Amino acid sequence: MTSRRRWARNALVGALVLVAGWGTAGWLVVGAPDAVAAESTLRTLAAARGLRIGSAVNAVPLRQEKGYRDKLRYEFNGVTPENAMKWSQVEPVPGQYAWDDADAIVDFAEQSGQMVRGHPLVWHSALPEWLTSGSFTDEQLRAILKQHIEDMTTRYAGRVGAWDVVNEAFNEDGTLRPSIWLDRLGSGYIADAFRWARAADPAAKLYINDFNAEWTNPKSDALYALVRDLRAQGVPVDGVGFQTHVTTNSALSQLKATLARFAGLGIDVAVTELDVRMPLPADDTKLTTQATVYRRAIDACLAVARCVSLTVWGFTDAHSWVPGAVPGWGAADLLDESLQPKPAYTSVHDGLAARDFTGTAVAVQSGRCLDVPNSTATGGVQLQQYGCNSTGAQRFVYNRVGTKTYTITNAQNALCVTVANGSTGNGAAVLQSPCAGLAQQKFELYKVVGSDQDYKLAATHSGKCLRVQDDSTADFARIEQWPCQTDPAAPSKQVWRLTAAPGHP
Ligand code: G3I
Repeated sequence: MTSRRRWARNALVGALVLVAGWGTAGWLVVGAPDAVAAESTLRTLAAARGLRIGSAVNAVPLRQEKGYRDKLRYEFNGVTPENAMKWSQVEPVPGQYAWDDADAIVDFAEQSGQMVRGHPLVWHSALPEWLTSGSFTDEQLRAILKQHIEDMTTRYAGRVGAWDVVNEAFNEDGTLRPSIWLDRLGSGYIADAFRWARAADPAAKLYINDFNAEWTNPKSDALYALVRDLRAQGVPVDGVGFQTHVTTNSALSQLKATLARFAGLGIDVAVTELDVRMPLPADDTKLTTQATVYRRAIDACLAVARCVSLTVWGFTDAHSWVPGAVPGWGAADLLDESLQPKPAYTSVHDGLAARDFTGTAVAVQSGRCLDVPNSTATGGVQLQQYGCNSTGAQRFVYNRVGTKTYTITNAQNALCVTVANGSTGNGAAVLQSPCAGLAQQKFELYKVVGSDQDYKLAATHSGKCLRVQDDSTADFARIEQWPCQTDPAAPSKQVWRLTAAPGHP
């Protein structure tokens, strides 16, 4: 099977699983192929987890280099034109559009089953000279901007899935960046741009995009406040893009928390321009460090259910913007100049493939933890709930053994969570026993819609869910299996918060 057909099959399987999921019960089964493809690429792995992995595309090698095209098509299920949709490129002469490069990228993406992120509609940079040096009235400028947004969005309506509507609107101190737009049209240009884009292409997701907002700082706070306020006013902001141009010195320690914080506004979030530059020349140590930074970025996005895509700003060091713009720095991408995978590629690949996790399971209705009463016993011990106490008795390893199927092993005694005797009966005890690959030791994880870590756990042999007996809130209450239910009056019943589970399971 070709990579494209394999990806298409995986996407189809995912879609079917989604449709077949317990939608009416308010649960979501995140789509995944039945087995991880043997020749997995970034895009097959990402698609299986409901994530888009994209790359910026440079129109020149796209035209001229087969190797570039092949890698782009094989490894990514999203693309962003690196420059081809910038105003200076598409409209070098007023009213005369040069669509060739942008069209070529959108055509390629369509043929390759990739989603396009359009970039950018409103930016202070890459503006045509006729615009920046023209003598327009404020009213004329406003009309010109509106026309530009309408021209771009209507041309690609239905073919561009998301737009960076406003790019880099902030200074580092959180004030709005001076630009022709702010200076001449006032801060209202941002809301106007989103409204015009939505009116012209109601289907596209509309993003505000910026850099240095990936951690806690005045700029990130200002961006957060702006998005919150715009949405409160009904301005159609669907997502925030975090560019994430970083160096090998970046810990990226706050990226996950930042993505989760913004997702809390009820919007999508995305890593939109990831690259990790290093002082040249590259060496093994720097490449290894770079791999860990890339891994942190992909892990952060995977941890947050509303992180819908991660896009790298170019995938090969042969065509990176970095050396030209940041002298002495480079080697920032996943593949080297010969399109060979660097440790960073392997690291992102492994991150997308990794599904096991270790953590506690909190019964949401009681706030108490799944607990082994005597965690040194050899087997047969009935599981209970007990106040969370950070001991090994409450720490479990979730090993993925099927698409959404896991064994659950206590981290301290390595015994498996088991439905006693393989019973299919209501109220059957859930206890510890030696792991033997039995169906009553495997559990399907059904994610609660809109959550990052809330699941129902259904035993594969019975299809019944783990619950606290009688939905008790008391310490020592036993764990049992019970028909899976959704009680609209008590939506937390049978729901377990798996504290280490990724948002993209
Ligand atoms: O196309 C002209 C060419 O005709 C001319 O001969 C040549 C001479 O320098 O310049 C070419 O234009 C360059 C263009 O890239 C296309 O290669 C510009 O000088 C150069 O400034 C431009 O750089 C781009 C930069 O944005 C500015 O638009 C980078 O490739 C691109 O990677 C970078 O991307 C930005 C994102 O859009 C926003 N976030 C930051 C990111 C990195 O700076």
